Amino acid sequence: MLEHTLRTYQSPTRLVQRLGAIRELGSEASLLGIRRPLLVTDPGVKAAGLLDTALEALRSSDVEPVVFDRVKANPPVDLVDAGAAEYKAQGCDGLVAIGGGSSMDTAKGIGVVAAHDGSILDYEWGHDPIKNRIPPMIAVPTTAGTGSEVTLWAVITDPKRKIKFNVGGTSNIASWVALIDPELSVKLPGPVTAGTGMDALAHAVECYTMVYHQPFTDAVALLAMEYVARYLRVAFSQGENLQARYYMSAAAMLAGLAYGTDSAGAAHAMSQTAGGVHDAPHGALTARLLGPVMEYNHSGEPERFARIAQAFGLDTRNVSMWRAAEMAVEYVHQLTVDVEIPSMQELGFSEDEIPMLADKAFADPQTIGNPRDVNAAAYRKIYEQAFRLGKAWDRHPLPLTGAQMKREKRVLTAPGAQGSGVRGTKETGVKMQ
Ligand SMILES: [Fe+2]
Repeated sequence: MLEHTLRTYQSPTRLVQRLGAIRELGSEASLLGIRRPLLVTDPGVKAAGLLDTALEALRSSDVEPVVFDRVKANPPVDLVDAGAAEYKAQGCDGLVAIGGGSSMDTAKGIGVVAAHDGSILDYEWGHDPIKNRIPPMIAVPTTAGTGSEVTLWAVITDPKRKIKFNVGGTSNIASWVALIDPELSVKLPGPVTAGTGMDALAHAVECYTMVYHQPFTDAVALLAMEYVARYLRVAFSQGENLQARYYMSAAAMLAGLAYGTDSAGAAHAMSQTAGGVHDAPHGALTARLLGPVMEYNHSGEPERFARIAQAFGLDTRNVSMWRAAEMAVEYVHQLTVDVEIPSMQELGFSEDEIPMLADKAFADPQTIGNPRDVNAAAYRKIYEQAFRLGKAWDRHPLPLTGAQMKREKRVLTAPGAQGSGVRGTKETGVKMQ
């Protein structure tokens, strides 16, 4: 479809990437003129020895950081504000974030407050503008999923309102350098690899299908999908497989670039609001919701979902556009099983919370870009499916056998399975629409 709406794209982030790129951290800091950065990280990164690696790299270039290692998952307002106070009290002149999305988002939030005043609460999207660029910042991801090293967003939790809110939508919040070293992710546990990798896939799928897409974001999103489809199962199954880690790191970065200045869609509207209710990992929660959201959304943009099936490597020759779109949805349902994403219940949610969760999702601004019209009732339906799929997973704890897969394939490709609805998904055998 030809587009008359003005679209713009801007990324101010220098990409530095290779196996072992962490050794460039000191020289990259020096290039930015950083001498005393606040190094923002979490206890897990420290325990894994990655903090020591970073400190060594910085000190070899005479950069002496102040370590702020109190980051926790779903970083709250007071943590960001405390980090900003520390930044000012210590006379820091830049930021280094090492960790997953929580560490990088915390550092970006600290940068916003340090470059202005007040609390990070003041800079919730739609409130005070972020007029000044954050101080020089290097983001070093240790997971492959969030893409925060290149996005123009930080996600912060407000425990009082029980929500997570977005800060950004401007290049002023972007890190100055994204230093991507896939070797840092080889020790990631399987469940974290799975959840974060599926989060990257969700960014790619949502940004590719949302109303704000444009050619540049389409390109990076599709390549991210290809890499996730090819390498997530391998990275999950062989943690030290460097090739898989390399391409998953690239996938996360590309999917992060797919955001541009815009937000995602229903899966992120749901996971970000639900993540403010219970302290569940963002990746696993988004992963659990992605399949049901795609199942709901594919009828709005069938050509795009059919193209996603091709990015997944599925053979869509000789099938209709509608069938190909369904295949993309089924693929994500199966991937969710293959990488053992936990159920909604295991993530801390109960079905009686569905109406409340649906209302919160509908109030989230990311609802606006969703490829299919959605209201609170639709969100309830999607949540019901997400809960159902988790239970189905309990009944099928192992991947399907070859014979089962052949049988499933016959069901899925039978003439009756063609049409606009999703039928016979391997997890449930149910049709949602
Ligand atoms: Fe995400």
